[in-house]
Amino acid sequence: MDKILIRGGLPLHGAVQIGGSKNDTVAIMAAALLIPGKTVLHNVPRIKDVYTLSKIFCHLGAATSFREDGALEIDATNLTTSETPHELVRQMRASFNMLGALLNRFDTASVAMPGGCDIGARPVNFHIRGLEQLGCKLNLEHGIYTGHVSRFHGADVTLEFPSAGATQHLMIAASRATGTTVIENCAAEPEIIDLAMFLIACGARIEGAGTSRIVIDGVDELHPAEFTVIPDRLQAGTFAIAAAITGGDILIKNAVVDHLRPVISKLEEAGVDVTHTPDGFRVRRTGKILPVDIRTMPHPGFPTDMQQPFASLLCLADGVSMITETVYESRFRYTTELARMGADIRVEDRTAIIRGSERLTGAPVTCTDLRGGAAVVVAGLAAEGETEIDGLGHLDRGYEGIVTHLQNLGADVTRTGTYQV
Ligand code: EPU
Repeated sequence: MDKILIRGGLPLHGAVQIGGSKNDTVAIMAAALLIPGKTVLHNVPRIKDVYTLSKIFCHLGAATSFREDGALEIDATNLTTSETPHELVRQMRASFNMLGALLNRFDTASVAMPGGCDIGARPVNFHIRGLEQLGCKLNLEHGIYTGHVSRFHGADVTLEFPSAGATQHLMIAASRATGTTVIENCAAEPEIIDLAMFLIACGARIEGAGTSRIVIDGVDELHPAEFTVIPDRLQAGTFAIAAAITGGDILIKNAVVDHLRPVISKLEEAGVDVTHTPDGFRVRRTGKILPVDIRTMPHPGFPTDMQQPFASLLCLADGVSMITETVYESRFRYTTELARMGADIRVEDRTAIIRGSERLTGAPVTCTDLRGGAAVVVAGLAAEGETEIDGLGHLDRGYEGIVTHLQNLGADVTRTGTYQV
């Protein structure tokens, strides 16, 4: 079994170049299925979720390959089936967005209930209700959704919660619908804006992305485009927290500060110096870590994905912090792993109460999910002695080359095993 071994205690120094966003890439890849022809995506991270989607595309008859210049080419001209391989679909959440894309190419398509991180129930009811409002008939049998529609029609859809996935899915489905679709109370994450930019580059007519109301005027045809994925704000945030917890000083390059405002603001409140640079920001900590309270919210609030590594930082704060998770009902499984390292964390319902202590100590721990994996890596960087991390399948889904990046920043970290993306 692959493991990451960290000997903690070394402050991070140097610079790290942030790669392309996972959550943006997987949404854009699903959208690429709408489009006959060759889509070219730059800045795509080489992570497991991208390879899983590529395998699904291959099954559907679409060809994907990384070019020599690093760009990902997707040729979805000749789709041969609209039945997705369910065991692969179940490995990730964003695969569900393929349903709306495939129903633009076929009258019938089927996609299994998606998987992804185990951080709560994560139903797909908003997706289903929205697709039905666009004219699709759906039924669920044996864990597989099958949809039927000859062409989606525009509709007014109001989401119960600003779900990122449902917003993306409906944007994809509606872009070739007849008439106008309005999505109210939609998500406003940077990845939503970027998906809109991609679809617009392909000929879609979309307005309002980045606000709580998106308007999509369906078009008859979309054409392929060449597009660059945005930098991964969650990867940038993770490295920023890693620098902070180790008392380091690093430059985070190719990061969009605007996408990270809530995280940067909480880092500053925790006593960390953050200064903007032309292509990112510098993170430095010399003083104590101060306790802070965090409440996760949909964008532009504090991102739920960052509460996990941030909790590791707060384990070493000079006082008591509280993290309240409002997006998912159960995103605290990682806290039992931090407790193995000496963290004093009590979870009550949706709030984690973290009593900061002077030290963490290395221990064998596991990645409970993708960002839970980031939390134990970050904690391991500051812990005394050796931290041995397993369950790396989660980490590999979203962090490209994390061990190499940390080594380049001066951390004592190695990986054992054979996994190669
Ligand atoms: N929800 C429903 N019904 C739905 C859809 C969502 O009840 O049909 C609920 C979810 O259970 C959750 C909340 O709404 O409680 C928000 O879910 P959302 O749909 O926004 O999340 P998602 O699209 O499944 C994406 C990211 C997650 C990130 C969330 C929130 C991808 C592939 N995943 O998930 O990323 O936490 O948005 O920003 O884009 C991660 O990167 O580690 C990760 C989990």
